[in-house]
Amino acid sequence: MLTAIQLVLLCLFPYVLLAESEEATGQAYLENEVRALKDQLQKESLSLREEMNSHLGDNLLLLQVIELIKEVKEIQGRLMVQAEQIENMESKLVEKVEDLESTLESNKGCEKLELKMVETITELQSGLVEKIEDQESKFMETITDLESSLGEKMGDVKSKLANDIGTLDFKVTKVDTKIKVWRSEVRLISQQKLTWQNSTHAEKLFSEYAVDGVYTGSGDLWGLNPIQHMGGNKRNYMLIVDLGGLFKVHTVKVWNRVDCCQSQSLGVMVYADEEFLGGLNDEKLLYTFRAGEDVYARKIYLKQSIPNWMNLREVQVFGTGPFAEEEVYN
Ligand SMILES: *[C@@H]1O[C@H](CO)[C@@H](O)[C@H](O)[C@H]1NC(C)=O
Repeated sequence: MLTAIQLVLLCLFPYVLLAESEEATGQAYLENEVRALKDQLQKESLSLREEMNSHLGDNLLLLQVIELIKEVKEIQGRLMVQAEQIENMESKLVEKVEDLESTLESNKGCEKLELKMVETITELQSGLVEKIEDQESKFMETITDLESSLGEKMGDVKSKLANDIGTLDFKVTKVDTKIKVWRSEVRLISQQKLTWQNSTHAEKLFSEYAVDGVYTGSGDLWGLNPIQHMGGNKRNYMLIVDLGGLFKVHTVKVWNRVDCCQSQSLGVMVYADEEFLGGLNDEKLLYTFRAGEDVYARKIYLKQSIPNWMNLREVQVFGTGPFAEEEVYN
């Protein structure tokens, strides 16, 4: 014989199962939803990061990204709160089932109980569905909000970037203009540059003295007013001044020695790279060679065209530049 309680439990059993399975389905559904939303948020923040990575280097952009990441974190926090609420609801459900069980003990017969059980379960079910739907729509709203605010911010960032690039362009143009103005000044471009000659008289009167900036009226060529002096009187001996870059040559000045023997440098021909500028064919203290238009050179050559010496106080090259190769030859 079944006792009354056993009978009641037997009646109740399918409903308990039903309640548990409803509850389980609801919970699984919510968990799925929460996971899917988290995934989506993670993807959004990833793609955002990727997009922002292409604009790295701009502090402002980084700040905005940090803000956006904060927002994503906030949403994750809200998701956690909602998950908690669902858990609460679940525990309430369990409580209610337990209540029912205890009510059961004080009730007789299955029919009344069955009715009450069905009612309660239906109520719980519809409550659960409502809550899930409510949360779903809240999530969708939040995500839509986030999307639109992300879109707005990206728009802001892009226009800021375009602005910055415009400003930068303007600054570059200004610097460019300054460089061009500075380069257009005709000035001394040979002093203290590298020099070379085939041989050096007494190993003391170096080619360097031709560009040392000293070209006074003193005849003291071994001391106060040193000169360049070739070590022999051979044809085709050369003094080379390396300008160190590509310059537009304006004028070359050649200062002859002061003390005596100005004829020893006769026969010297002056070249800007391949371009012939003039020769020393009379005895003078200063020769001035004006280059033609568009004479560009890296080196100045002073070549002795006859078997004679070359003893010069100073060689001065005036010009503009330097220029990049592609600015001159294109
Ligand atoms: C002097 O040096 C230049 C440059 O290296 C060379 O072309 C020239 O032949 C030399 N002259 C003599 C006479 O050796």
